Amino acid sequence: MNKEVEERRTPCRAVITGYGSFAPEKKLTNEELAKMVDTSDEWITTRTGIKARHITSDNESTAFLATEAAKKALAEAKLDASEVELIIVATITPEMVFPSTASFVQRSLQAKKAWVFDLAAACSGFVYGLSIVQQFIESGRIKNALVIGAETLSKITNWKDRTSCILFGDGAGAVVIESKEDGRRGIIYSNMYSDGDCWEALNCQAHGSRHPSNRPLEDPKKIYMEIKGREVYQQAVRRIVEAVTECLEKCNLTMDDISMVISHQMNARIIESASKRLKIPEEKVFLNIAEYGNTSAASVPIAFNECARSGRIKHGDIIIFVAFGAGLTWGANVIEF
Ligand code: UT7
Repeated sequence: MNKEVEERRTPCRAVITGYGSFAPEKKLTNEELAKMVDTSDEWITTRTGIKARHITSDNESTAFLATEAAKKALAEAKLDASEVELIIVATITPEMVFPSTASFVQRSLQAKKAWVFDLAAACSGFVYGLSIVQQFIESGRIKNALVIGAETLSKITNWKDRTSCILFGDGAGAVVIESKEDGRRGIIYSNMYSDGDCWEALNCQAHGSRHPSNRPLEDPKKIYMEIKGREVYQQAVRRIVEAVTECLEKCNLTMDDISMVISHQMNARIIESASKRLKIPEEKVFLNIAEYGNTSAASVPIAFNECARSGRIKHGDIIIFVAFGAGLTWGANVIEF
């Protein structure tokens, strides 16, 4: 491990002790989408790797998905909700403008001891959340935390815009992180980056102070998310490669030491292209985008949950989480599982 990274570490390790995910039952396939907009299963599959996405019903909200995922993670960790000290919900589709989605999760779980907040770093939100919790645990400030990525992107999707509506889906993933002083397991290193100059590449403008609810929108489409797909595509490949390369350098690791790279699932072609540049063998790249589409902050924890439960990674493996999204934001975590 790099000296600078080693020196900063305390005996407290931020260890993932529980994980879970939840997706709404309703699925929307490419074939069904092709009846709604001018597209085809063939186009969506070859350009993105997506075959279907889960979509919430009218009465399913972000906090509901987050709570269901959190319950599974707590059960796996055998941690009672009353013991949880911090809840972070990474989301760009919150329950309300305020209070935070995390407040509703706290209430549903009756996690009375926790302090809670939402984290708006789009698709990088979960990776940012782990990095923040790592700091609080390593400093001894907290003993445990719940980090949840939860999104209901279908609720801000323009179902008439074929350039965006094919990409996104709903879901939630959660992890319990606990402080352990007895070993090497845990988050080894995290990085986080952003570039506000490129905010226009991915955005949803309504309901904020720039377009307040008490004034009519000059463009009604601004209630939906807008993306500049090509621009995001190129930036995503570049930033994923940079974030993973930096992780390897700082931790004195090579790709041979890594068992699995779990990327934000934004487009299978983006992940494949970045993996090729990083020379990651195919079997070390986890993909579940075909089933979920892009679920923003929920994507990494959903993928991690599936990867761990299917036995593709085992305790002692070193894995990398990497994400990129609106802001622009990007970042990665190196974890000994
Ligand atoms: O997590 C971060 C958020 N993720 C993103 O923002 C996504 C990043 N970008 C992407 O995944 C890809 O850029 C897309 C999947 C959005 C688009 O793929 P592309 O290979 O970059 O296609 P393109 O935008 O260059 O469009 C190629 C053609 C265009 O037609 P012309 O101009 O060549 O005649 C589009 O109009 O494909 C057309 N097109 C479609 N055709 C059928 C665009 N969307 C569709 C569609 N079905 N859904």
